[in-house]
Amino acid sequence: MNSKSSKPKHIIIIMDGNGRWAEQNGLLRSAGHKVGVKVLRNLIEHAVKLELTTITVYAFSRENWQRPKKEIELLLDLFISSLESEVKDLHENNIKLNFIGETDKFSKKLKKSMSESESLTSNNSKLTLNVALNYSGRWDIYNALLSIIDDMASKKITKNEINEELVNKKLSLADYDEPDLLIRTGGERRLSNYFLWQIAYTEMYFTDILWPDFNVDQFDLALDWYAKRQRRFGKTSEQIGENKNA
Ligand code: IPE
Ligand code: IPE
Ligand code: MG
Repeated sequence: MNSKSSKPKHIIIIMDGNGRWAEQNGLLRSAGHKVGVKVLRNLIEHAVKLELTTITVYAFSRENWQRPKKEIELLLDLFISSLESEVKDLHENNIKLNFIGETDKFSKKLKKSMSESESLTSNNSKLTLNVALNYSGRWDIYNALLSIIDDMASKKITKNEINEELVNKKLSLADYDEPDLLIRTGGERRLSNYFLWQIAYTEMYFTDILWPDFNVDQFDLALDWYAKRQRRFGKTSEQIGENKNA
């Protein structure tokens, strides 16, 4: 495994703080979410310049259904309008869009926008943007369990074949490198049911900056911080053969 952790192959982001940003600026929470989309857009442009390959953002958690109905409706409308306005640009920039999470609950219109943007961009290869919508880490894990139980019941696999590798294969993001870096904006030091299994060795960067204020310079700071980490994966520094504090 690569211990020299200069550039993360896979970055996962919890874009938090839109509501507080809006309140601090005397605006409605919706305004914070709208600015949040623009921030993501700028960041993706920047990530392409840096030749990063995979970014996965948390756009809506399963727990977010507990928010006021009005805010949920606004967020869902914003997802549709953002897809409509951004997908062409993403495609022209050779970016692949992929959604993870349970989509059943969404409106026909949103589901259509999602599947159309996925098929339009499916062969793009510069950067993959995974968007977690109606996602939660626990949901991901129990889904993997259900799938393994089904495979056993239909005799596709035996108990002896159940191992970490198989669980990995059943989870969202199975096709991507394990997340190297987590960035959470907005001041909280928690995961809020984002990836659980997949983050066993993810480096975690927390910043108090609210998502609408998060810019490319802030992003570069997170990358600089990441580049200084020594990823040991259970080994000693000596085994890794580098001591960054020396
Ligand atoms: C994150 O910002 C966006 C979503 C959860 C959809 P918030 O809306 O959670 O903003 P705060 O945390 O209330 O400031
Ligand atoms: C996490 O933020 C979910 C997203 C950013 C989509 P929340 O604002 O929902 O997290 P909590 O409720 O503060 O833990
Ligand atoms: Mg929040």
